[in-house]
Parts: sequence; C-alpha cells; structure tokens
Amino acid sequence: MNIGVISDLHVDRYHNDEINETTFLREVSNEVNRLSLDLFIIAGDVSNNYVKTHDFIETVEMMTGVKVLFIPGNHDFWNFDDNNRSSWEIYDYFKQQPESLLERPYIINDEWAIVGSPAWYDYSFASERFSYEDLERRAFKGGHWQDKFYVDFKISDIDVANYFAELTKKDLEKVKDKKIILVTHVATNKRFRVPMPHKIFDYYNAYMGTTKYDEFYSEYDIKYSISGHIHFRYNFIENGVTFICACLGYRREWRTKEIVQEIRDAMYVIQI
Ligand SMILES: [Fe+2]
Repeated sequence: MNIGVISDLHVDRYHNDEINETTFLREVSNEVNRLSLDLFIIAGDVSNNYVKTHDFIETVEMMTGVKVLFIPGNHDFWNFDDNNRSSWEIYDYFKQQPESLLERPYIINDEWAIVGSPAWYDYSFASERFSYEDLERRAFKGGHWQDKFYVDFKISDIDVANYFAELTKKDLEKVKDKKIILVTHVATNKRFRVPMPHKIFDYYNAYMGTTKYDEFYSEYDIKYSISGHIHFRYNFIENGVTFICACLGYRREWRTKEIVQEIRDAMYVIQI
C-alpha cells in the first residue's frame, strides 16, 4: 500500500504568476496518479482560507479518485476574508469534513491506523534567552509572527498546544493496539528546529513546534511521524520512529523553478 504525504502547498500565494491554484490542482493530482497512491495525506497549510483549503482537498479527491486525509495548519485557520468565523468555528468546520483526521483516527486495516492533529507551538523550541513575555509578544526585531493577526483561539498558544496534545492522546488511546502514523502540522521533534544560534530563528523557533508529544513516542507504537510547517524537507529515524517533513514550501524556497519537480521532490511515500 502506498501512502503519499505532502504539506505546506500554500496554493493561494501566487497572484501575478504563471503558477496559480489550477496549476497546483493539476500537478498535485498528476503526482498522486503517477505514484499510484492508495491514500494521500496533506499535513496542513493548503491556503489562507478554510473554504479554499477544503475545496482544494475535495477537488484533488475528485480528480484522482484517491482518498485524501487532512489536518489543518496554522494558515488554514487564517481568517483573511471572513471576520465572522472564529478559529474554533473554523476548527469545527474542518472537523465535519469527511477527509478530516481531527479527533477521528483513520483505521487503515487490522494492523495500521492514522492519528492526526494540527498540534500547536508552545515556545519550547525557542532559545532559553527569551522570556515567556518576549515570546508571547510574537514580535522580534521589527517583524511579527503573522498568526498574531490572523488566528485567535482566545487562549494562549501554550493552552492551545496542551489542548491539542490532550486530544491527540485520546486518539492514540483509541488505536493503541495498532501501528500508528501520526500526522501533525507543527513539528514534534526538536531536531526540526532551525539550528541555533541564528540571528532571528533563536526567537522564531518558538513557533515551529512542541515538545508535548515527546512522551507519546515511547507510549504508543508510532512508526511514522509526519509534520510540516518548517518549510524544509528533512527525514530521519529516531528510536525506531521515522520523522518526515514533506513541505513543498514557498516558491522562493524551491531549488528549481519547476512545480512538477518540486512536488515530486517534496512528496514522501510510505509503503506499508
Ligand atoms: Fe504552517
């Protein structure tokens, strides 16, 4: 069985460009077909608009006939066009979609299951030289962490991170007799931090991930841990868990100019 994984497509970023949302739909679907995937997982950050994100997922499913599974990333929670929806309402919107993994593990077969959560950053990846107040400000050297303006769960980031970790634990319990593929948006292993010391990422690492999932890797039979968010492509094995970051990322970060090549390079295929 072939399970394809990708994240951080950011399909709505290219306005005055030859690449647009239709290009993404076509090329992502082509790659899903080319790889003969049985399942396709998107680990968040499809777009800055939840309706657009959901439309994209549904259309890929229609164009390929392949089951898509999804968890939202921080950008999918962004409230660019509709100020009436709170972040929790957007969470509930995603939760209702048939492709969603939120609070609903996907049972592949007797042996394997998939558990998913956005997870949330809890500042534990930041350099210790910053105080909680420094990090909670979400502003550094004239720049801002943009979630500050577009996401509002009405509680602190640490409380969001705790809550998502609790939900994940409940889902892991539901499938504890199986081998597990864990899907999050933010990173759950500190090895995904931007190496320190770094001029600005000593600070911005705060928003890259969480250490709240560390204990889950010894408690449950997690074989694969997929995350996105950090916009570089990097895989490693630690204590028998394969950690995968399959970010497509922004075009300015690509090594080539070719979307087909970049999707091919970013996509990771798990064979079980
Ligand atoms: Fe992200």
